Amino acid sequence: MATVTELLQPVELDLETLLNDLRALIGAGHPILQAAAEHLFSAGGKRLRPGIVLLLSRALSPDGELSSKHKRLAEITEMIHTASLVHDDVVDEAATRRGVKTVHSRFNYRVAVLAGDFLFAQASWHLANLDNLDVVKLLSRVIMDLADGEVKQGLYRYDAGQSFSNYLEKSYCKTASLIANSSQAAGVLSNQSQENLKALHHFGRQLGLAFQVVDDILDFTGSEQQLGKPAASDLASGYLTAPALFALEENPTFAGLIEREFSEKDDLEKALNLVRNSNAINRSRDLAEKFAKEASEAIKWLPDSSSSRALFELPDFVLSRLY
Ligand code: IPE
Ligand code: IPE
Ligand code: MG
Ligand code: MG
Repeated sequence: MATVTELLQPVELDLETLLNDLRALIGAGHPILQAAAEHLFSAGGKRLRPGIVLLLSRALSPDGELSSKHKRLAEITEMIHTASLVHDDVVDEAATRRGVKTVHSRFNYRVAVLAGDFLFAQASWHLANLDNLDVVKLLSRVIMDLADGEVKQGLYRYDAGQSFSNYLEKSYCKTASLIANSSQAAGVLSNQSQENLKALHHFGRQLGLAFQVVDDILDFTGSEQQLGKPAASDLASGYLTAPALFALEENPTFAGLIEREFSEKDDLEKALNLVRNSNAINRSRDLAEKFAKEASEAIKWLPDSSSSRALFELPDFVLSRLY
């Protein structure tokens, strides 16, 4: 299976300039906010979201070239994503991200809250300057969804009675919305038909859900070193993701451990083993595979090019993180 760099090869040069452009774009803030933002940008994430926007933009362009608006959309997408991570790490009290300290552990909580706000505000400003109301609507909706998703997740902590559809809604808000709406926005900038715009949104939605389910599996099966962020932390925080919810269906005694918030000795260890030794990981993998397949199917109509071929491989790449 290809690595993310190989997969994003058709837009590799675009992604290189993206990092420099992002630095220039956020250049206007207070030095401490700049330093905080720079800290995470330089740590280097996978840049999957701007990669998707750039691949779609090239795949939809008659001559395969990128307009400056498409490039700016990719930058805004990564800015919103990074802002959401800075705030998410505050909410989750996470110590590491992208293999380095999180902004609040490197600086402090106040700086992290402000740096996240600063990035969201910068993203909104650049978004408005694209002068395209449809794109503004799509991406500002994402910022609403992100806040909504964090709140939803918080409300259902340690709630063993929550429904699976609640988990999927939360995952749409926190993860899939950005990929779905930025994919659709790339289509808007490329003057696509309503039908194609709907398909692009569906592609991003299903890919985002697959990505989140995979991330939730890796939280149970991966190591901190592998993930660049703490492992086995979702359950410890009371976040019940796909593997935990499937394990709950199989083993009702699990609910007792959750409801007492793993307060007795070895509760958490017991709970982790319960999930790992159940059929829950397999069922979660099947679910991720279903979403990934639906994502590929949604973009079958893209004209053939190196970019569209990379996009077809993306869902499998997301799944390959599990192996
Ligand atoms: C992390 O996203 C947040 C989730 C939706 C799980 P990524 O795993 O894409 O993070 P980076 O950008 O590569 O660091
Ligand atoms: C993902 O949150 C971050 C956002 C999309 C806001 P999670 O808490 O699920 O992901 P990690 O584990 O911190 O990357
Ligand atoms: Mg988190
Ligand atoms: Mg997670």
